[in-house]
Amino acid sequence: MEAHLLEWLNLTIRWVHVIVGIAWIGASFYFVWLENNLDRQVKNQELAGELWAIHGGGIYHLQKYKLAPTTMPKQLHWFKWEAYSTWISGVLLLITVYYLNAATYLILPGSPVAPAAGVAIGLGSLMIGWFVYDLLCKSSLRHQPILLGLALMLFLVLLSWGFSQFMTGRAAYLHVGAVIGTMMVGNVFFIIMPAQRNLVGAVEAGTEPDPALPKNGLLRSRHNNYLTLPVIFIMISSHFPSTYGHEWNWVILLGLSLVSVAVRHYFNTRHNGQQFVWALPAAVLALLVMAYVTVPHIPGASAKSTAGEGTEVVASVTPEQAHAIVATHCASCHSASPSHAAFSTAPAGLMFDSIEQIKRHKDRIYLQSVASYIMPLGNSTGMTQDERDQLGRWIADGANIK
Ligand code: HEC
Repeated sequence: MEAHLLEWLNLTIRWVHVIVGIAWIGASFYFVWLENNLDRQVKNQELAGELWAIHGGGIYHLQKYKLAPTTMPKQLHWFKWEAYSTWISGVLLLITVYYLNAATYLILPGSPVAPAAGVAIGLGSLMIGWFVYDLLCKSSLRHQPILLGLALMLFLVLLSWGFSQFMTGRAAYLHVGAVIGTMMVGNVFFIIMPAQRNLVGAVEAGTEPDPALPKNGLLRSRHNNYLTLPVIFIMISSHFPSTYGHEWNWVILLGLSLVSVAVRHYFNTRHNGQQFVWALPAAVLALLVMAYVTVPHIPGASAKSTAGEGTEVVASVTPEQAHAIVATHCASCHSASPSHAAFSTAPAGLMFDSIEQIKRHKDRIYLQSVASYIMPLGNSTGMTQDERDQLGRWIADGANIK
């Protein structure tokens, strides 16, 4: 019952998180696009530019002011709750998925870090991440965007390496995403909103707004625009075990992040010319290289298929042996009626009660338990390397069930 309630809590928070996240990122992408596509040849001296658009059957005419209109409109839309509610629901989801079951989902099997300490480090890193990033932005690096970007990247790489030392691959990835997400929402809360309040307040009071603030706000909002892409990958990364489950998972995360930032940069600059168009083929090449280096290694197949000169001859694995391994290490969760207390239904809908079911899902089983150590979750059942090799051999030999 408790497991079932937790699942519905997870469902509800995740649903909200995705919806408000789309609203935040959607608005953010839209305004960056707007800024990049403004027609700046306008007659009205007060305006920075304007833009015509058609959407949903209607024609829109948008105008951007250089600073502000002489009198403020009655209603001004602020776009801040999208960001705040994404962060709040994200932290709730982090708690529901990773912290309530920290021993299973958060901590790497065999790590000396206690679950409670892992939770404290996880939450603490969100705060520390913001302070480091904000300090970097206010340091002398603020005049050198490339160096600033490199310093930030170095910090995130260190963090992601550190997480991967004691967290499961999925949790390590997710925490990097949560740290970046916290930087982004911090930008909205501590930098962009105060700048906007200052601007609106000055216009209403008829005084000069501080010109440095909007500039700073725009810069941070640009940072957010670049950070969005790695964060979105991280949020869907739990579908891709060959990334987070890899031994070098933090390097792969760096590679994917660099690809996404380069592609974003091309799209952000292409209205001014094509000098970054190389980012597109480079991204394709980098993805191919990463797909190649993450190819799961095939364990020695049995005597039948590899007994050549100098090969070690190993006996083939019978269906009974394979079934017994899965029954011991997987079926407490992956069953029509799981005996594991944390699950009321089979996780991911996968049931391995019969040898036919096991065969049907052999490729996914292979990825999770032979090519990587993702399953059994938290290696709670203590599956040995020998058992993984045996299961792998049975699959490599064609997963015979007779
Ligand atoms: C303690 C419970 C538990 C045990 C034991 C367990 N699993 Fe899982 N498994 C899970 C959970 C939870 C998920 C869903 C993960 C997620 O949210 O994506 C899962 C997902 C999977 C998936 C789907 C992953 C994907 O995205 O394709 C496979 C395949 C899998 N497990 C195989 C195994 C195998 C093989 C074993 C035994 C060697 C095993 N599991 C043991 C809990 C368990």
